[in-house]
Amino acid sequence: MTFVVGEDCINCKHTDCVEVCPVDCFYEGPNFLVIHPDECIDCALCEPECPVDAIFSEDELPEDQHVFLELNAELAEQWPCITEMKEPLPDAEEWAGKPNKLEHLKR
Ligand code: SF4
Ligand code: F3S
Repeated sequence: MTFVVGEDCINCKHTDCVEVCPVDCFYEGPNFLVIHPDECIDCALCEPECPVDAIFSEDELPEDQHVFLELNAELAEQWPCITEMKEPLPDAEEWAGKPNKLEHLKR
């Protein structure tokens, strides 16, 4: 089991989540964060921290976001670890809650 960052993070990237992770398993891309599934210990601390509710337990991931399970695993191997909160992306408010953001994911 792991927690998964879903599409609501794309173009928002608030980063509140990284501050609470006891095992530092968040990885940062240009406009999205991912969780390394082999490092996550399922503590659930990050889930309520996200202002846009982008984080899900693997077994509660919405059906239409299952692709993010694989994306988190793949991108966590490529991106650098992030452990400290930073400013959200400048247009975070504008992008909050928008559907179909996957096409905007930058790698
Ligand atoms: Fe880190 Fe816990 Fe969130 Fe997993 S569930 S990413 S260990 S804070
Ligand atoms: Fe993304 Fe939410 Fe963390 S927007 S960076 S998952 S706090």
